[in-house]
Amino acid sequence: MSKLVLRSVAKSYTRGTSVLKPFDLVVQSGELVVLVGPSGCGKSTLLKLMAGLEQLDDGQILLGERDITRLEPRHRRIAMVFQNYALYPHLTVHDNLAYPLRRAGSAKAEIRTRVETVAAQLRLGELLDRRPSQLSGGQKQRVAMGRAIIREPELFLLDEPLSNLDAGLRSHVRGEIRELQRRLGTTMIYVTHDQVEAQTLADRVVVMRSGEIQQVGTPRDIYARPTNMFVAAFLGTAPPNFLPARIRDRAIELEAGSLPLVALPAELRMALAGHDRIFVGIRPEALQSTRLGGGELKLTGRVVRREFVGNMQNIHLAQDRPAEALATLSRLTGRHVTGELVWTTDAANMVERVELGLRPEDLLLFDIHGEAIGLAKGEPI
Ligand SMILES: Nc1ncnc2c1ncn2[C@@H]1O[C@H](COP(=O)(O)OP(=O)(O)OP(=O)(O)O)[C@@H](O)[C@H]1O
Ligand SMILES: [Mg+2]
Repeated sequence: MSKLVLRSVAKSYTRGTSVLKPFDLVVQSGELVVLVGPSGCGKSTLLKLMAGLEQLDDGQILLGERDITRLEPRHRRIAMVFQNYALYPHLTVHDNLAYPLRRAGSAKAEIRTRVETVAAQLRLGELLDRRPSQLSGGQKQRVAMGRAIIREPELFLLDEPLSNLDAGLRSHVRGEIRELQRRLGTTMIYVTHDQVEAQTLADRVVVMRSGEIQQVGTPRDIYARPTNMFVAAFLGTAPPNFLPARIRDRAIELEAGSLPLVALPAELRMALAGHDRIFVGIRPEALQSTRLGGGELKLTGRVVRREFVGNMQNIHLAQDRPAEALATLSRLTGRHVTGELVWTTDAANMVERVELGLRPEDLLLFDIHGEAIGLAKGEPI
């Protein structure tokens, strides 16, 4: 169990193009932190720096009481598991597990006890004589995990460890990893592209963009209080609807409706002072048909498309929005924003024209640069 501290860690592969801008992060002892961000934002690079597989340009890495910045990888007491489990195909499960200990020169008796313990922890006891080619994807993943924990690392790094597995197995192995991490109390950093994985596994989530931290917080925090439009659009099952709005006559005016400022909590009203143009973010699941009594803001639209997901559906409503506004929204959120408004509702709902409302407290407010209005700037990291 060790706390990890990254201080001003920076990295560029080629001169002048920084992959990680000076990066600070503290991961508490026994904590499971999930790292998310678009492809190429520097997640794997960050893990490799911690493991010692890449050299950092600047900064310091502390693990527990030790400064490990310049230590050889094998002396760091860090284990890393990659997407492709990289098991030795010619070795049995037993020998794959024993390999790191043999290499470290451990005594035979110790190797025997450790392999037995780890095999029991990961339920690999029956599989010890098999070779990797005779294992399922989930079993291979467990062997890779076993090989990583056998030397009792202080820090566990997992880089998209489940992306080769199908959805059902992924959820199962994910549960096992969480359980194992809790039981061993090992500090863990876990990289994933999977939204559900991030939200179900993490004590805290770190959202990255272009080598920089955007926000650090619990999954709930990041969902409820995203620090900017990029984070709001990145986490969650469907991104929020973002609409340009103006503050006028003591109301938030949208093209499709208006909301009196008095409906907002006092601290938001104060934070809005001085803003003229803003963006509002409305999560598809926060919208409600006004016939059900949903809130004060009214948005209307004609249904153009439906996507069914189990017992829910995403209804896409046509909205008239200028191309320029859509281009700005796409830049700020880092994803392609269309002129449609999305509403998540019951799959049985077959309406063609709708009038929607929402509760003022569900409104997310952003300035013209995409930064959240009325939020303290995330939690200290
Ligand atoms: N060895 C290398 N030499 C030069 N550039 C590299 C090297 N490794 C990574 N990069 C670049 O550094 C940036 C970050 O890469 P990294 O692999 O850390 O991204 P990532 O967030 O893990 O992406 P993904 O989600 O696709 O795995 C990318 O632009 C990548 O092209
Ligand atoms: Mg990667």
